[in-house]
Amino acid sequence: MKRIFPASFYNPITLAGSAIASISFGLIVFLTVLEALAKNPKPYLGILTFVVLPAILIIGLLLIAFGIMREHRREKLGKPHGLNLPTIDLNNPRHRTALTFFVFGTILLIGFSAFGSFKAYEYTDSDEFCGETCHKVMSPEFTAYQFSPHARVGCAQCHIGPGAGWFVRSKLSGAYQVYATLFNKYPRPIPTPIENLRPARETCEQCHWPKNFFSEKQHVLSYYLSDEQNTKWTLNLLMKTGGGNIEAGPTSGIHWHMNIAHEVTYAAIDSGREVIPWIQSKKPDGSVTVFRNKEIDVSEEQLRNAERRKMDCIDCHNRPTHIYHHPAQSVNTALSLGWIDPKLPSAKSICVKALEFPYSTKESAMDSIKLVIEDFYKTNYPEVASSKKETIEQAIKQVQTIFSRNYFPEMQVSWKRFPNHIGHMYTEGCFRCHDGKHVSDDGRVLSRDCNTCHTILAQQYENDSLHLSLSGVEYRHPVDIGDAWKEMNCSECHKEQ
Ligand code: HEC
Ligand code: HEC
Ligand code: HEC
Ligand code: HEC
Ligand code: HEC
Ligand code: HEC
Repeated sequence: MKRIFPASFYNPITLAGSAIASISFGLIVFLTVLEALAKNPKPYLGILTFVVLPAILIIGLLLIAFGIMREHRREKLGKPHGLNLPTIDLNNPRHRTALTFFVFGTILLIGFSAFGSFKAYEYTDSDEFCGETCHKVMSPEFTAYQFSPHARVGCAQCHIGPGAGWFVRSKLSGAYQVYATLFNKYPRPIPTPIENLRPARETCEQCHWPKNFFSEKQHVLSYYLSDEQNTKWTLNLLMKTGGGNIEAGPTSGIHWHMNIAHEVTYAAIDSGREVIPWIQSKKPDGSVTVFRNKEIDVSEEQLRNAERRKMDCIDCHNRPTHIYHHPAQSVNTALSLGWIDPKLPSAKSICVKALEFPYSTKESAMDSIKLVIEDFYKTNYPEVASSKKETIEQAIKQVQTIFSRNYFPEMQVSWKRFPNHIGHMYTEGCFRCHDGKHVSDDGRVLSRDCNTCHTILAQQYENDSLHLSLSGVEYRHPVDIGDAWKEMNCSECHKEQ
């Protein structure tokens, strides 16, 4: 048989190298075509096509070079060539059969390995893999996600997005996480915010357009006080979500101001981005205003060194899917739906208390919640404890369910460590900037007026008259705290429960 390559090519190492290189090259071509044809190219296909297979290809090429060099050295030393290939004679039936088997076997093998690697890739892309198999440590994130508006959006769509670049970046940091998980070295909880999350423009905006105009959205909220009667208080808010395209029509509201026409940059002095002494607002006409909070104790140098961040979706929607609710919020919801009976005396206060004890494991929490609530009624309302046994049982079940979705003691995860920036009641949220203390050089205060972001349409105490106005009523705090709610941030009192 004629040899097209120099003699030094024909040695076992080089031949093995070329087999490896050509198979992986074939697979890369196959998967690239697959990705190009797929309707929704999956982020994880990248790892195989652009990371794993090229690495194998390079190993193959290195083997080829190594084999040839080794062969040249042997030649210089006067040793015979390492390989004497058998001669194939196609006129010999035995040779023919062997060759046929070999060729078909190889084609089958390549076919299977392509299929196998595709399946493997599909699996690493699935949410079970992200949330359960590989990322057991992420069970809090996975649990919260399943009960969120994004339960059907894949993890990778927000965390990686399409294209190979971010795939590689996230997998490189993922490699460290595999090590950390294997050796039990991961931080508890997983820190937030994620330092190099892909910019929201490239992930969220696959599905949500900031130019889209969102009409005002009504929230009807029910609250229950921590008194014996669980006094109900309802509030009707109209959120001015807004947005819109300047060329096409109305632009107003929260989204318009923050994202389309304005560019807001801020400096935070803590890693959680909660303490913000400096904000710069740039309008479309190019005018720039700087707002400072003089009450935050920070030196000029500290401010200069602080990271500047251009505001995007994540600065408000930092919990679009991993939402850990405040206990008062969850219990209010359960009471308003009747899942916990509002007629059960002091239900609000005891259920919130039972949730907030510092438990060390989920199992001990489940047992203690039962004991705490049962004991409370036996001690304070013995009559209720015997006559409403089932109602109490049901309340206990509800509290246990709330706990298992919002508290993860093993990972030290709860609402406290993962504040949601979207509101201002239980965490600073919007009031990190809109606290009425950020003032521009020309004396303009960043608005904290209650009707800036939402219109308070109506509020009502149980059995009291309804206060209603389409232009917004003056807020009344449900319990008398004087003017404190005007001067302090809501979260200063409501963080503690
Ligand atoms: C709708 C988009 C979205 C989806 C879907 C999503 N995440 Fe997230 N995830 C986020 C955002 C936003 C953050 C917080 C980023 C920040 O504050 O820096 C985050 C944070 C995290 C964190 C860091 C800890 C924390 O809670 O801040 C982990 C771990 C995580 N996600 C895992 C997952 C897993 C596992 C899945 C799939 C089961 C998933 N995510 C699905 C948007 C998403
Ligand atoms: C793959 C598509 C997809 C991506 C990516 C995505 N979302 Fe969504 N989002 C949805 C869908 C679907 C809904 C549910 C719509 C509904 O309920 O009407 C939704 C709902 C929402 C809502 C309304 C939630 C509510 O309580 O009703 C917000 C806010 C939101 N997304 C923000 C984000 C942010 C921020 C990101 C980026 C971190 C993001 N989304 C990424 C598809 C997506
Ligand atoms: C200044 C803070 C802020 C920023 C920045 C922001 N949002 Fe929002 N967004 C809000 C608020 C507040 C709401 C209303 C929440 C509610 O009604 O409970 C909202 C609502 C939404 C909704 C639900 C709308 C509806 O009517 O159901 C979507 C979707 C959404 N935002 C996506 C985004 C995306 C995508 C980005 C980034 C391009 C973004 N938001 C940036 C504050 C913000
Ligand atoms: C990082 C600081 C920062 C945060 C956090 C922030 N804002 Fe703003 N907001 C600004 C700045 C700066 C302006 C523009 C002020 C100006 O130039 O007049 C603004 C303006 C607004 C306006 C328009 C006000 C007006 O005068 O018409 C609305 C509405 C608004 N923000 C809503 C929100 C909501 C809702 C949140 C929380 C989900 C929020 N903002 C969080 C900095 C912030
Ligand atoms: C910078 C914008 C902004 C300002 C100013 C503002 N709010 Fe809000 N408010 C919000 C947003 C955003 C939410 C959360 C909506 C959500 O939970 O999705 C909210 C929610 C609320 C809620 C419901 C809280 C909950 O989570 O149940 C109350 C009550 C409320 N606001 C009262 C007030 C009062 C009183 C004032 C005036 C002192 C005020 N707000 C000023 C943006 C604002
Ligand atoms: C000085 C402390 C303080 C401040 C500031 C404060 N509150 Fe309250 N708030 C209370 C107390 C005390 C209660 C009664 C708690 C209970 O009965 O559970 C309460 C109860 C409530 C309730 C009903 C009970 C619940 O948690 O479900 C709402 C809603 C509420 N406050 C909203 C706000 C809002 C919005 C602000 C900011 C504009 C605010 N509060 C500021 C002390 C405060």
